Amino acid sequence: MSRIYIEQLHEVAGQQVTLHGWLYNKRSSGKIRFLVMRDGTGFVQGVIAKGAVSEEVFARFDELTQESAFTMTGTVRAEKRSPGGFELDVTDLTILHIAHEYPITPKEHGTDFLMDRRHLWLRSSRQHAILRVRHQVIKSIREFFDGRGFTLVDAPIFTPAACEGTSTLFETKYFDLGSAYLTQSGQLYGEAGAMAFGKVYVFGPTFRAEKSKTRRHLTEFWMVEPEVAFNDLSDNMDLAEAMLEHVVQSCLKDRAAELKLLERNTAMLENVKAPLPRITYDEAVEILHKNGIAFEWGNDLGGTDETVVSQQFDRPVMVHRYPAEVKAFYMKRDPQNPKVALAVDVLAPEGYGEIIGGSQREDDFDALLGRIKEHNLPQSAFDWYLDLRRYGSVPHAGFGLGIERTVSWICGLDHLREAIPFPRMIYRLTP
Ligand code: 4AD
Ligand code: MG
Repeated sequence: MSRIYIEQLHEVAGQQVTLHGWLYNKRSSGKIRFLVMRDGTGFVQGVIAKGAVSEEVFARFDELTQESAFTMTGTVRAEKRSPGGFELDVTDLTILHIAHEYPITPKEHGTDFLMDRRHLWLRSSRQHAILRVRHQVIKSIREFFDGRGFTLVDAPIFTPAACEGTSTLFETKYFDLGSAYLTQSGQLYGEAGAMAFGKVYVFGPTFRAEKSKTRRHLTEFWMVEPEVAFNDLSDNMDLAEAMLEHVVQSCLKDRAAELKLLERNTAMLENVKAPLPRITYDEAVEILHKNGIAFEWGNDLGGTDETVVSQQFDRPVMVHRYPAEVKAFYMKRDPQNPKVALAVDVLAPEGYGEIIGGSQREDDFDALLGRIKEHNLPQSAFDWYLDLRRYGSVPHAGFGLGIERTVSWICGLDHLREAIPFPRMIYRLTP
């Protein structure tokens, strides 16, 4: 027998079914008892009328505590007033487990209290909705790349060297080989993949020993990183905007109920359609100056700067050609102006800041070797990477999209910590 889930009730209206789940809440009104069951796919109210069930069943209702596990059998009835559209006229109840007093109650709890109980907090409707959107984001990203002939290439997590600067490296002992570092980005391996398969994406967890306690930083986060041989910066931006459109529109279409539960105003999300505005770093600096910000050319855009720039647009904006000095060693310089790198950041609207960072890569052996030396990176750890510029080097480009930043923006969250099931931050390693 296949199990019926709450989200399938519309398929079995009028029929008798048995549902398995947990008690969300219950109340009594005269001779009627109401209980709300959740089963992970939705919520449904069961209605128990005195007289319609045995005394034992009535007594079992009294025993049930919040989050107790039970089954309920009854007839599925369409009910316009109920959020899921259906109710169950209960004829039988069985108790599977009586829960201890549940720590998370409908009253307001502080974030630390809830984060300490993250393993339980995941059951509440808001967290449930956020993580369903996260699943949709990941699923639609895979759909997008798989549908365009990209090959998935997994990058290692233990790596011999830094990729995104040495200040945020997690170091760990590695047998007789000395130190290993948790990967900050799978990009360098993605580049090897692109030379082997043409177009690839790397998708996995990445690590940054971020010492800052901001709402935009985790120490462990997920990133998808496409990399394409023969693409230049402009092709890279075309790819990023097409992917963003696909992801956001897919969430609006398939996760409308979750976004509604989160009370997300979706007006700005509806606008996420190619083409997205593209401005240079120089133009971004002009915007900052016009808005009275004393910003010096050559600095990286900070969180507030990003917000001011993105406020000029009603959809994500791509900022390209940053000063090479503030960007990574592997980025190609603009042949028209070697002071700037062929880099692009995508800034989300509504103050969410950078969600994508990418670039065209340095494909010239000597230039790349020079950059590795300038950045004081250990040359021996990069010898394999230099091989990609020894054997059939071609222009290529790619980017990284942070999953949690994207989920946070789509859901309208005020902190990244709710966008991942079990967040890791400078001050949090549990549960
Ligand atoms: O801009 P980043 O550092 O770029 C790279 O790692 C490149 N190697 C990507 C590439 O070209 N293949 O990081 C890319 C994205 C950021 O835009 C942001 O969305 C996310 O990763 N990110 C973080 N998300 C959460 N917590 C952090 N500490 C993050 N650092 C970066
Ligand atoms: Mg970046």
